[in-house]
Amino acid sequence: MNFALIVAAGKGLRFGDEIPKQFLMCKNHPILYYTIKAFEENSFIDQIIVVTSSDYIDLVKSYVSKYSLKKVNKIVEGGSTRQLSVFNGLKEIKSIAGKGDNVLIHDAARPLVSQEIINKNIGALKENKCVCTVQSDSDTTYLSKDKKTVESIINREELFLAQTPQSFDFECIYKLHFEAYQNSDIENTDDASLAFKNGYKIFLVEGNKYNFKITKKEDFVLFEALI
Ligand code: CTP
Ligand code: MG
Repeated sequence: MNFALIVAAGKGLRFGDEIPKQFLMCKNHPILYYTIKAFEENSFIDQIIVVTSSDYIDLVKSYVSKYSLKKVNKIVEGGSTRQLSVFNGLKEIKSIAGKGDNVLIHDAARPLVSQEIINKNIGALKENKCVCTVQSDSDTTYLSKDKKTVESIINREELFLAQTPQSFDFECIYKLHFEAYQNSDIENTDDASLAFKNGYKIFLVEGNKYNFKITKKEDFVLFEALI
């Protein structure tokens, strides 16, 4: 089985709105709806687990019934960091997952994830335990330690920006999260980094610019223009 784990328990501090960005409305629908819909419509995805903060669980439940999101199986309470939110979701999946099952972990704040990206992740899981969606960069990229002057130029051919979904053999990523939690290592900003730190090879699949993360107000403007 292929599980999609959508993390939507963030507060959106950089965005700076009263309500978390994933619940903002765009063309009459909340951002989270667009994100869930992408996985709902993918025929390789069997079940969807959504993680959100306790104040928003009822709202997400109402979306599930309003939009007839049939694959959403569980709505789980999140944690204080993204990693803890993912771990809470993985703990719920553990009770239903079997050997060889996969999980695609995705940010709720990336509503424009395409079917092609989801398919590439699932395809790559046939041969790999850890898969990360990335975008190559077309701009010249500098390294600056003092944030004022250029220290060095990074070879852009070798530079990739991490996106989600990041996809894993379920048993593998569960174990990594479990061990990280035991060691109070709870601040990793994504799951492929956690796997990489633990010595796993991360297979890259190509994402695209549309799969950007809504982080600041300007990203929302862009999303609104594209939808
Ligand atoms: N997320 C989560 N639980 C957290 C923190 C983040 O589920 N404790 C989710 C967010 O809802 C988002 C994704 O992880 O879909 C990526 O995080 P980010 O873009 O950093 O969102 P926020 O943490 O909400 O934003 P900020 O860092 O600006 O506060
Ligand atoms: Mg954050």
